[in-house]
Amino acid sequence: MSSEQEKKIAAIESVALVENGMLVGLGSGSTAVFMIQKLGEEVAKGLSIKGVPSSIATAKLAREVGIPLVSLEDAMTLDINIDGADEFDPSMQLIKGGGGALLREKIVAHNSKYNVIIANSTKKVEKLGKFKLPIETIPFATKNIMAELDQVGLKPKLRSVKGIPYKTDENNLIVDLDIWEWDDIPRLNEILLKIPGLVETGLFLDSTDLILVGKGDSVIKIEK
Ligand code: A5P
Repeated sequence: MSSEQEKKIAAIESVALVENGMLVGLGSGSTAVFMIQKLGEEVAKGLSIKGVPSSIATAKLAREVGIPLVSLEDAMTLDINIDGADEFDPSMQLIKGGGGALLREKIVAHNSKYNVIIANSTKKVEKLGKFKLPIETIPFATKNIMAELDQVGLKPKLRSVKGIPYKTDENNLIVDLDIWEWDDIPRLNEILLKIPGLVETGLFLDSTDLILVGKGDSVIKIEK
């Protein structure tokens, strides 16, 4: 089965966890797209939920498929949040932000009672860091942050699309870091988050309750 099919079966399985009346965090990225489409089908059949989107792109898709939306401040606490990941390790630690939505994704995850990650089998790693770690930075500080992180060997690269710096939904920038040499990931996260102007990292540590992984034609569950 292709890795896209693996994403799809994991996404479809996650929708079975959504119950009537729930406030649902809607993740971003290609795996989340499958989940949002399936959730839209269930809403059309009568499932009554409200979604909180984690990006402008997700909000647009959710509206297109008929999922009623509510703002995070109106929802306050979500029953469930379903999102993708770029990598997950055996202790359910994640790298996210490949799609640039990490800041809102982390806020939505933080405000959710139950966090579900949906992924294909290629996202499973023994050690985080083959995927470059995205961080979100304020434009005013970005050059300085990059210089500082270069000093400690993190090889910062400003993310750009067709030569133009990528702007997040919050009008910030994304810098991708090479964290492969770092073994103490929680410590690295602490160090990064102390730098003024570095708004958030794509390390989602201890926030996940369940990972649904599409592998071949079945879905494997990894639980806390
Ligand atoms: C978006 O910013 C990301 O965190 C995505 O959730 C992550 O990159 C997974 O994306 P795919 O589902 O497209 O692989």
